[in-house]
Amino acid sequence: MNSLFSHVQIGRYNLSNRMVMAPMTRSRADDAGVPSELVPTYYAQRASAGLIISEGVFPVAQGKGYVRTPGIETAEQVAAWRMVAEAVHARGGRIFIQLMHCGRVSHPSLLADGAQPQGPSAIKAAGQTWTATGLQDFVTPQALSLTEIAAVIAGYRQAARLAIEAGFDGVELHAASGYLPEQFLSTGSNQRDDQYGGSVQNRARFVLEVLAAMASEIGSDRVGIKISPEMNFNDITDANPQETYSYLVEQLRGLNLAYLHVALFGASVDYHALLRPLFDGSYLVGGGLDQRSAAALIANGRADAAVFGSAFLANPDLPERFRAGAELNLPNKDTFYAPGAEGYIDYPAMSLSANA
Ligand SMILES: Cc1cc2nc3c(=O)[nH]c(=O)nc-3n(C[C@H](O)[C@H](O)[C@H](O)COP(=O)(O)O)c2cc1C
Repeated sequence: MNSLFSHVQIGRYNLSNRMVMAPMTRSRADDAGVPSELVPTYYAQRASAGLIISEGVFPVAQGKGYVRTPGIETAEQVAAWRMVAEAVHARGGRIFIQLMHCGRVSHPSLLADGAQPQGPSAIKAAGQTWTATGLQDFVTPQALSLTEIAAVIAGYRQAARLAIEAGFDGVELHAASGYLPEQFLSTGSNQRDDQYGGSVQNRARFVLEVLAAMASEIGSDRVGIKISPEMNFNDITDANPQETYSYLVEQLRGLNLAYLHVALFGASVDYHALLRPLFDGSYLVGGGLDQRSAAALIANGRADAAVFGSAFLANPDLPERFRAGAELNLPNKDTFYAPGAEGYIDYPAMSLSANA
């Protein structure tokens, strides 16, 4: 019977435990998308995770969707990420970068020359995003042309290559939470009548082509994907999510990906029961886990690794705390996306909290 603390092979890596740090946007980059000097410390503090998945990072400037989020496109961005990867490796950790293209859920003030956000179709999402002047409504996106779709896929390919050059161990495609890949997958945001819209085969094409491009660039065993069926975040809706995700996951079979990461929040059916039998690789489960529920998932073989978000945010030494049965620091929501060190690199490790 496996435990949270047992080794596990994920893609080409043998991880020292089955606790994965979830991708979490922390908005500690400058306006050019360059991570600040605090970022290596933040991730290095959490290097005892079996695997860290970075915050969402835009592969191309047009994919930015929130103020102060980082990219991996320019030489300055790559240089800053190299410090992050080195800091994590120096502590014996592993780190994948999460590539997040926000698509229609962005705002012209976040894009070069006030550009219009782009999506599969010109359908505006209800809701708002964080800009330099506070919350602003989403706008109607421009529908991507076929040439522009090819350029976006090339952007993901380049970002995967740059991530490896920067020293990351691999790349996760963010196909969850209502961002561009899920906008293609979902009927509510994709009403195209070409090969990227309509049937489930067509709606899944973008995601599968992005994965194929990244895998051919860096090796499929360094590429993972995150999905969140029925999460409905960012106004994403699909007429038949069980069919959409069953089809997608069946198509992932045989791609030899490092992993499939499924985060569930209040779905109408047990997608883990539906999807895991359809997939042939490592299966990561996230969303609202605690030590007990995660250990049960691993022990029952329902997941190969367990993904923790806010618990890792607030507890840099989460594996050690779980081993010791220690109390956890509570996350402070006020500083999730605030600039600066507070609520970022000052959550105490266990011995320090015990002395406090
Ligand atoms: C501050 C914060 C930022 C997040 N940013 C991202 C992100 O950039 N990419 C992503 O896939 N999920 C993001 N998430 C979702 C987490 O990856 C995870 O799925 C979620 O927190 C549920 O796990 P938890 O209940 O263990 O916190 C974020 C969550 C939090 C709390």
